[in-house]
Amino acid sequence: MKILVAGFGVVGRSTVRLLEEQRPMLYRKHGLSPVIVGAIDSKGAAISPAGLDVPTLLAAKEKGSVAEYPAHGVKGEKDVDLIAASEADLFIEATPTTVKTPGPSMERLKAAFRTGKHVVCVNKAPLAVAFPALQELSRHNDCRFRYSGTVGGGTPVLSLAEEVVSGAEVVAVRAILNGTTNFILTKMDKEAWTFDQALAEAQKLGYAEADPSADVDGIDTATKIVILANGVLGRPCVIGDVKIEGIRGVKKERVDAAKKNNQTVKLIARIGAAGLSVKPEEVAADSPLNVGGSLNCLALELKTGGEIFLVGRGAGGPETATAIMRDLLDIWHAGHGDTETQRH
Ligand SMILES: NC(=O)c1ccc[n+]([C@@H]2O[C@H](COP(=O)([O-])OP(=O)(O)OC[C@H]3O[C@@H](n4cnc5c(N)ncnc54)[C@H](OP(=O)(O)O)[C@@H]3O)[C@@H](O)[C@H]2O)c1
Repeated sequence: MKILVAGFGVVGRSTVRLLEEQRPMLYRKHGLSPVIVGAIDSKGAAISPAGLDVPTLLAAKEKGSVAEYPAHGVKGEKDVDLIAASEADLFIEATPTTVKTPGPSMERLKAAFRTGKHVVCVNKAPLAVAFPALQELSRHNDCRFRYSGTVGGGTPVLSLAEEVVSGAEVVAVRAILNGTTNFILTKMDKEAWTFDQALAEAQKLGYAEADPSADVDGIDTATKIVILANGVLGRPCVIGDVKIEGIRGVKKERVDAAKKNNQTVKLIARIGAAGLSVKPEEVAADSPLNVGGSLNCLALELKTGGEIFLVGRGAGGPETATAIMRDLLDIWHAGHGDTETQRH
């Protein structure tokens, strides 16, 4: 399988490292021989239809850019042209998320689908703003489209949820999908910190960005609930359909009052009859939704059978690379007509 990857940061590099480490197992268990035919970062690309040597590619990036790859480095060409011209079977989109400017990542995905490439995407922004259109484009071009690294990192939240949904009717969803805000709210609850103290600690520990708005204003959670609604529940929507309230306004007094009532405040994403929302809500202290620190939790309310809870770790470079590998193998096996049973 020939692979082209855009974005060679934490996730892109973890992914090619993992593919290289797992090469013997991938061939032995799955008959898969991955070949990295291209890598793109913000300064250029390394392209070789015969395949790039992974240690040389990583060493080139250490020097500043994949474009430093000897004899195969490319500077100044537009990434959409490189994607369209590539002979890759599969394109991995791992550039940064910006919901306000999803244009460049949308163009990359469109270029990949229009030239018949399967896609694994871990960039949430294009999915949040145009999931239905991208799904349509992938179907139209007979390409497979997987994105399991966008929600829950290494925890297979989307595939486990798909499994549940295939055998039951889900009437409502509640979820905690952002580790940074959950860390902050947990500190406010357990250590009686203010929002500002907890945010400063999250930034010190590297959980929160210097500009934490995507997390604390609920945007990241909203992008993930849009992906869940579209990808798992078959409910076409975009981020503009979500009512969003972040956690900046959560005061210590509210957390203390919740505590007195055996409750805690969590940033809850909801899908239900009333639509999609993200807002701070009081949750019973003994609810399985009361996960601590940077954990994620998904609660699926079934028409018959009550509520099912999935709990696991969220983001991380190696975890997200594992999700990409899972998607890649799904695409590989689907291309060979394998059934779920044959795979296990
Ligand atoms: N890290 C996680 O735990 C995690 C988990 C789930 C999903 N994700 C998603 O995965 C994606 C990548 O995350 P990351 O942590 O790997 O980010 P990162 O470390 O900041 O790396 C981003 C990469 O994208 C490249 N890039 C930026 N703009 C580009 C452009 N216009 N064209 C081509 N390449 C461009 C950067 O180039 P330079 O190297 O030249 O700067 C860099 O190589 C994001 O969408 C993120 O939301 C991340």
